[in-house]
Amino acid sequence: MEQGAWSQLWLAYEKRQDRGAGAYVADVALNGFSGEHRTVKRALEELQAGIRGMLGIEGYRLRETAEATLVLKRGTGADQEIQKEGFCLLEKDGVLTVEAADESGLLYGVAGLLRLIAMEKSLAGICSLSNPSSPLRMYDHWDNMDGSIERGYSGHSFFFRENEVLVDGRTRDYARLVSSVGINGVVINNVNVKQAATWLITDRYLDKVRELAELFEDYGIRLFLAVNYASPIELGGLESADPLDLEVQGWWRDRIAQVYQAVPSLGGFLVKADSEGRPGPFTYGRTQADGANMLARLIEPYGGLILWRCFVYNCTQDWRDRKTDRAKAGYDSFIGQDGDYLDNVILQIKNGPMDFQIREPVSPLFGGMRKTNQMLEVQVAQEYTGQQIDVCYLIPLFREVLDFDTYCQEDNALVSDIISGHTFGNQNTGIAAVCNTGDDFNWTGSDLAAANFYGFGRLAFCHGLTAEEIAEEWIRLTLSNEEEVVRKVKKILLCSREVYEKYTSPLGIGWMVTPNTHYGCSVDGYEYSRWGTYHRADHLGIGVDRSMRGTGYAGQYQKPNAERYDSLQDCPEELLLFFHRVPYLHRLKSGKTLIQHIYDTHFEGVEEVEEMIALWESLKESISGEVYDRVRERMDRQLENAREWRDQVNAYFYRKSGIPDEKGREIY
Ligand code: GCU
Repeated sequence: MEQGAWSQLWLAYEKRQDRGAGAYVADVALNGFSGEHRTVKRALEELQAGIRGMLGIEGYRLRETAEATLVLKRGTGADQEIQKEGFCLLEKDGVLTVEAADESGLLYGVAGLLRLIAMEKSLAGICSLSNPSSPLRMYDHWDNMDGSIERGYSGHSFFFRENEVLVDGRTRDYARLVSSVGINGVVINNVNVKQAATWLITDRYLDKVRELAELFEDYGIRLFLAVNYASPIELGGLESADPLDLEVQGWWRDRIAQVYQAVPSLGGFLVKADSEGRPGPFTYGRTQADGANMLARLIEPYGGLILWRCFVYNCTQDWRDRKTDRAKAGYDSFIGQDGDYLDNVILQIKNGPMDFQIREPVSPLFGGMRKTNQMLEVQVAQEYTGQQIDVCYLIPLFREVLDFDTYCQEDNALVSDIISGHTFGNQNTGIAAVCNTGDDFNWTGSDLAAANFYGFGRLAFCHGLTAEEIAEEWIRLTLSNEEEVVRKVKKILLCSREVYEKYTSPLGIGWMVTPNTHYGCSVDGYEYSRWGTYHRADHLGIGVDRSMRGTGYAGQYQKPNAERYDSLQDCPEELLLFFHRVPYLHRLKSGKTLIQHIYDTHFEGVEEVEEMIALWESLKESISGEVYDRVRERMDRQLENAREWRDQVNAYFYRKSGIPDEKGREIY
């Protein structure tokens, strides 16, 4: 693919007003860093491209001395506050210093500086320290080797085509983009490892994997591979993949040795086992810990990690079975082995107990497990949240998860603390997102979906940022510094999650989506199927009783969360139907009945999409034509989708309940 055949997103480096930055950046000193280091070279290249594009400065003078107006300095000294991969920007007496503890920190520091220049901020007197909140900050790609992307909504893979691994200008620009927001780990292939992807750990592909891993290394990113748990059978011709079988262990030992010989910088493996038809240790009567530890022990000598997913549940349920509760399965499958996992295993836990719905409680594994490394998995690809057609800025949702108090101990018990290592004092923790990119010109289908692509990285690096701050940064870097654009686009982004929630499934119940594709409404689409995703609506009411009188899911939380969720009165209303079965005439805190709430929110949701469109239209003159048109076209599809949801949901509940809308609006 031709260089330039894709957007540079927030690294476009278009002309900016110089608010004084030009006075520093033309005279650069490298102090304590070698200009020959691969990552330092990349940082310098980026600096060069940034100042040329934004400030019109063709080049800078680079010196290995402390005397210059921009000093790129290695932070040393005992009282050093700058941590691994962290950086500090400091301006004093006409000298701007980017101080970092290591090369990755320097790369991030330069990106931070370029961000400020792009946002037209003054650098005078700046003193800002940024240390990464989570040690591991990852993008997981669900890319298949034939070039398709599972749950991909923006074209084909740029990592694979026709069963080959691609390493080209686009993969380099990908690395530039994600490293500029602090991502330091990338899983290139789908968690459902099948066919050719099973062979990624063999000689057939390892040379190419090394090439890509080396490109990533330039940008401080470690490459990870998702592996097929049944590899010993499928690749090795063994009869079993039992983790306690010596032959199986021997097979993995040899394979891992060969993988690391070819790709010494590999970060490790991501494993989806015993999940949705994927093989795993349960097949052999073993625990998840047996499976994870077997691999962890063998990969440990190479410094590798095993990222083991907790998305384990029975996907062949009978809808008549009211005892089995999919929401409980993750906790039940893992909690018994808390403390048994080796230190280089990290359990990767989806934010909620179900599957990336627009509203779910936080997984009770956070706070439930105390002696196991944990990382959070969220989804930036909008599988259930509008598929990069509907606007749905997800950073507010991710923030809620980070801010959730698990009460597993008195202090430092937020999810953010757990995945930063502050709660239990562990090193191997982190955060991962299922990525939303493809080979579309603009990477993410809708241009507004790039706010999630950008925002996840920024939030992963700095848990303290607000959704609003991140939105503003992204708008200024990508669309415009014009105040009107910033204000209006921010408004669109910040309301979008709630708007989406209003016209789709109410009060935390989730689903109601078209089976398989997961776009569009089908209230009973999954109701009588095997996936365990029921809303249980009948003529009396709706919701799943997950209290202690029901499935008992509420009891998986620590107090006082367990008590709050267990009580119909105290349960946070946005999660009411997740935890309780409620009659249609139940009065909500607003004074409205449940059924009226359903009608009202669905009418409002559509109206708010119309308002969103009007806001966007008012920016036609200020936003580049192609971007404007692409978003506008998707907004029409969003409006159609919202109307369809409104009408399906309202008609369904009107017909079930027989209760009319108080306002007499049109319901079919
Ligand atoms: C969802 C999604 C699948 C994916 C799975 C997972 O169920 O629809 O495509 O494989 O999550 O996270 O493993």
